[in-house]
Parts: sequence; structure tokens; C-alpha cells
Amino acid sequence: MPGKTLAELLQELERKEATVTAGGGEKAVKKQRSSGKLTARERIALLLDQGSFEEMDLFLEHRSTRFGMGEKHVPADGVVAGFGTIDGRAVCVYSQDFTVMGGSLGEMHAKKICKVMDMAVRIGAPVIGINDSGGARIQEGIDSLSGYGQIFYRNTRASGVIPQIAIIAGPCAGGAVYSPALMDFVFMIEKTSKMFVTGPQVVKAATGEEVSAEDLGGARTHATKSGVAAFTAVSEEECFALVRHFLSYIPSNNSEDPPFLENDDPPDRENPDLFHVVSPNPNKPYDMKKVVLEIIDKGSFLEVLPDYARNVVVGFARIGGHSVGIIANQPYHLAGCLDIDAADKASRFIRFCDAFNIPLLTLVDVPGFLPGSHQEFGGIIRHGAKVLFAYSEATVPKITVIVRKAYGGAYLAMCCRDLGADLVMAWPTAEIAVMGAEGAVDIIFRRELEKALDVDAEREKLLAEYREQFYNPYEAAKRGYVDQVIHPKHTRRKVVRGLELLWSKREIGRGKKHGNIPV
Ligand code: HXC
Repeated sequence: MPGKTLAELLQELERKEATVTAGGGEKAVKKQRSSGKLTARERIALLLDQGSFEEMDLFLEHRSTRFGMGEKHVPADGVVAGFGTIDGRAVCVYSQDFTVMGGSLGEMHAKKICKVMDMAVRIGAPVIGINDSGGARIQEGIDSLSGYGQIFYRNTRASGVIPQIAIIAGPCAGGAVYSPALMDFVFMIEKTSKMFVTGPQVVKAATGEEVSAEDLGGARTHATKSGVAAFTAVSEEECFALVRHFLSYIPSNNSEDPPFLENDDPPDRENPDLFHVVSPNPNKPYDMKKVVLEIIDKGSFLEVLPDYARNVVVGFARIGGHSVGIIANQPYHLAGCLDIDAADKASRFIRFCDAFNIPLLTLVDVPGFLPGSHQEFGGIIRHGAKVLFAYSEATVPKITVIVRKAYGGAYLAMCCRDLGADLVMAWPTAEIAVMGAEGAVDIIFRRELEKALDVDAEREKLLAEYREQFYNPYEAAKRGYVDQVIHPKHTRRKVVRGLELLWSKREIGRGKKHGNIPV
């Protein structure tokens, strides 16, 4: 620059940087803090490895002129974007700055987000979006909407190629919710996050219903009722730590294997307590999480959606250092039946694991699909089919352990041999049957029961016969549907061996455009 010394040029750069990085200014930052929120840059600093953040497009500016925007300086256009590392691995990140026009999204704000997303796909790194925004920047009209459209398009095209993580760290309303919804996992922070398609005022105007923002779209609501929030945290700090921990289970992209993390839990550790956890009495519930925790490497379970559709437990873990995705029926809730919500929860998790080369371990204790008109009217046929589809489509190593009940269609849905399980093991407590004894006896022995002099005694006799025939793993083992009947105490060792055997499994796709999963 003619007429300026190098020192002056550097001062100018520093001055410009300082102006932009101050965000919306002191007053707005104070307001942000008084709502219990960190600033966009503080969030990135906490999320990434210390000092690793490289910011892009710091000086990018909007080019809107209407509603006084021509004269308005909008620092960094309300979003901080760039790349850095987490545990030394590259990630791309953006963080909306609520102190700048409420983090609202206009044309250039969207361009910044799209740029880091494109970078993430090119280099094969996860993208993490921190959302804190009043939504589409109203002054920019259709250009704001177009910005969202471009992000949704990229979210969809990048799905299954790189992991996409959404952190909701403030409001996220209207159509803006659909970018997080298209990503793989949504993290929410209690009291801070609010997520809804239509806010409380609109709900009241449209329906007369009065509901608070927290009840309508807070972290608890989405973790328990809607199933939108896979993970919740009590503070921003806890949330960022959780995201970092989550990433330790997954690869950076779909052509990498997940990280292998050695630990000091012996792969051949026996599980003598397992026999006491599971009751052979089919009517006695137990906590399947105890089984999970016993089999996996100590302390390695990261449960996904722990408070939603609790009749199925899903989550990431390590077994012998290998990352695995666990899907397990939970007899503690709805007797472990599969219902609409459980089917959605399980199938989405299975598809994520399959997309990112994470082997599946399925623990089965399922009496069937949940009966009832509510389930039928809600489309349990469509939803249940997703589980069948997801397992059948999955080409990652699939190991199934039948712990107790495995009845009917639900037995098939829980990754049976016929859906492509690579290894099926069963405990001696396994009961693999078309249906439970009570229902079966009433159907197949209806005539005998009608004729019986002592119906109850006859029924008891027939039930005992049926149980003797089918309440065991040996009928299935005789036909090769079960590969091994194992002592529960050897479960961990056998799963580790299975994972090691299957590590080299490669199944080539069918060359079709894509399947048509029932939605
Ligand atoms: C432009 C916005 C904005 C927006 C907030 N601001 N939202 N500017 N476009 N969408 C500005 C405010 O004018 C204010 O500017 C500053 O951000 C902070 O906002 P406050 O209202 O003072 O903050 P707060 O009281 O905390 O309320 C937060 C809020 C509220 C609940 C998010 O701002 C709000 O209701 N905003 C509008 C939400 C909305 O309806 N958005 C459009 C949705 S439609 P000053 O200069 O005063 O500091 C949509 C469609 C997307 O998003 C479709 C995608 C397909």
C-alpha cells in the first residue's frame, strides 16, 4: 500500500481484527453473558484443542442495502467460522454470534457456513455447527432463505460422508431447525437451548395453547419427548467436553475406520455376574444396561438418547479397544417391546454406524412389537420396517447375542442371521420362538382347550410343552440360525474375538442409486 509503512499496515490489520472480533460490542456481549451464554469465539476456544483454531472470512461483509443495512457494519456477518483440531484430528466449525444482529442468517453468513462445510467434505473432517440465532435475517428477505436452502442441501449431500454435529446453544427456530435435524447428532444445553419450528407466540395465536419456550423446545423436551436431542448437558462447558468425547468413537469420514483405543481392560475378562443379572423367568425384568456395561471396556459406554424410547438402549462403546455401536432391548421398559419411537431410535443409530464403519453389537431380549391401536394408527408397520431395512442394508460387522426372548417379527428385526448377522450367539436362557407361550397355546390348541374338562390344567400342560419345545436356543442352533450357544461369562471374550475376525469384512454395495427406506 503506497504511503504506508509495514508497521502501519500491521497496525491496520490488528485494528481491523480487533473491531471484528469484538462482535456486537460491549453491551451485546454483556447481554449474552447475562443470559448465561458464552460468546461465539469463547465457545470455539473451549471446543477445540487449545490454540488450534484458524478463522476464515473474518472480514467478510454482507451486501444488503435495504432497511438501513447499507450503513450497517455487521462484524464477521454474525458467524465465526474456520477449522482446528480436536484431540489432534481436523474438524471444521462454525459458531453463530448472537451479539451480532442476533446471530441472524443472511446471504454472506450462509456463505461462510457453506464454505467450511465444503472444506470439511473435501478434507474428510467432521463439521460442528454451534447454533445461536434468531433465524433468517429478516432484512435480507429471500437471500436469507436461499442461504438456509444452500446449507440444507450441503447437510444432505454430506450425510454419510462426514460426521455432522449440531450444538444448540441458544435459540434455533423456524426453518433454521432443519439444518441440525439433517445432521447426525444434536447436542442441547439445559436452560440455554430452545428449538422449535413455531415458537410459543405462534402456537398461541394458531391454537390458543399456552406453552413456555422451555416446555416447547428446551433440552429436556427434545431429550425425552421428541427424540431430537441425542445428547444433553447441564452447561456449555460440559456440552463441548461431551462433543470431544463423542468424536473419540467415530472416524473423521466414511472411508476411515473408527479410532482404536487400547485400554487396560483385558479382552478375555470373564463376566461371571451376567448369569445373575438376567432372570430365566421370562416375566421378570432386569436392567439390560448392566449386561452392556459388563461386556464392554470399563467405563466406555456413551449412551445416545438415554431418556427417549427407553425400551431400546443404543450407544457407542469400546470392546477390546474397538469402537462399536450397541443396540439392546431393555426389559425394564415396556418389557423391551419394539414400538414406533424405539424403531426410529434404533434404525437411525444403525444407519449412522453403518455409514461410518462402526460394527454393530445387538443384544436381544424382545417379546415382540408393542400391540395396540395407538401403535398401528401411528404406523408401527412403517416404523418397524425401518429397523429391518437398516440392519439388512448395513454392511459393517454385525454380531448378535440373544440373551433371553427373541419372538416373532421382533426376533427378525433384532439382527437375526437372515438379516445378515455375521455371528449369532445365544445364552442358554434364550427363547427363540414365533411368539410367547401364552399367545401361542391359545391359538394352536384352541380346539383342545375348548374340549378340555379342566381348561386350566390342560392349558398349563400345553404351555409347559410349548416352553419345553421352544424356550431354548437349541432349536435355532440345530438349524444354524444360532452359531454358538455360549456361557454368559464368556460373552465379552467371544465378542472381542468376533470383532477381530470381522475387522477385515468388506461387502460391496449393489450399484443402485439408493434404497427407499420406509420413513
Ligand atoms: C434480523 C434479528 C433477528 C432476525 C433477532 N434479531 N432476530 N435481526 N433478523 N431474524 C436482532 C434483533 O433485532 C436485535 O437487534 C438482536 O438481534 C437481538 O435480538 P433481541 O430480540 O433483542 O434478543 P432476545 O430478546 O434475546 O430475543 C431473541 C429472539 C428474538 C427470541 C430470537 O430476537 C426473536 O424472536 N427474533 C426473531 C425470530 C424470528 O421470528 N426469526 C425469523 C424466523 S423465520 P438489536 O439491533 O436490537 O440488538 C425463519 C425462516 C427460516 O427463520 C426458514 C429457513 C427455511
